[in-house]
Amino acid sequence: MNKITIAIDGYSSTGKSTVAKQLAKALGYVYVDTGAMYRAVTLFSMQNNLISEHHFNKNELISLLDKVEVSFQFNEALGYAEVYLNGANVENTVRSLEVSQFVSQIAAVSEVRQQLVKQQQQLGKNKGVVMDGRDIGTVVFPDAELKVFMTASPDTRAERRYKELLNKGEDINYDDVLENVKSRDYLDSTREDSPLIKAHDAIEIDNSNLSLEQQFQTVFKLAKAAIDMK
Ligand code: DC
Repeated sequence: MNKITIAIDGYSSTGKSTVAKQLAKALGYVYVDTGAMYRAVTLFSMQNNLISEHHFNKNELISLLDKVEVSFQFNEALGYAEVYLNGANVENTVRSLEVSQFVSQIAAVSEVRQQLVKQQQQLGKNKGVVMDGRDIGTVVFPDAELKVFMTASPDTRAERRYKELLNKGEDINYDDVLENVKSRDYLDSTREDSPLIKAHDAIEIDNSNLSLEQQFQTVFKLAKAAIDMK
């Protein structure tokens, strides 16, 4: 069967990765979470004191970029690939609210984007990939056969993210999560390099009132139709 490239973009905490993972599994495709890659570079910056609430040493990060190795390793038990930073599994650490608070600044650095986009293009070069992020349909794979753009109201998204972080045992409050969702939307959509915008040929799905199963079925139907057209 012909393999295609599926780009799933959208605002933070719209549930892109949940649907993308499910879709990749159903199709037997590779799933790539590009947000995790920007998060890993953010963690590297935090670990090396390049970024804090008070400072961001962007030039030093740029000069250290060749020391940042982001990779994925498939975890059989989980059924998806986990993200590694310089050989260490950082799948859980990169999801913390602390990393979320700095990631948009890191993702705005063009040199970081160039390095990660190149790697993403490499990961998807054989097609048969579901990639989620902010610029997959616009920059990484502008020729993707299927582009989905996910949206949901900020409150819906903050509630989902809040529950997810609580379940992981993080000590957080709802207002901080809502604030982070809104500020990342703003920063991600207004940055100069590869801002978050809907590709002209992307199909928008507002999932505020859709269950996970409904979202999956919607995207799965679109994927099957795109594969049949190939
Ligand atoms: O999908 P996520 O919330 O894990 O992504 C974390 C951040 O990384 C997000 O706020 C913006 C940035 N990002 C990006 O700029 N480009 C991508 N392709 C993926 C994520």
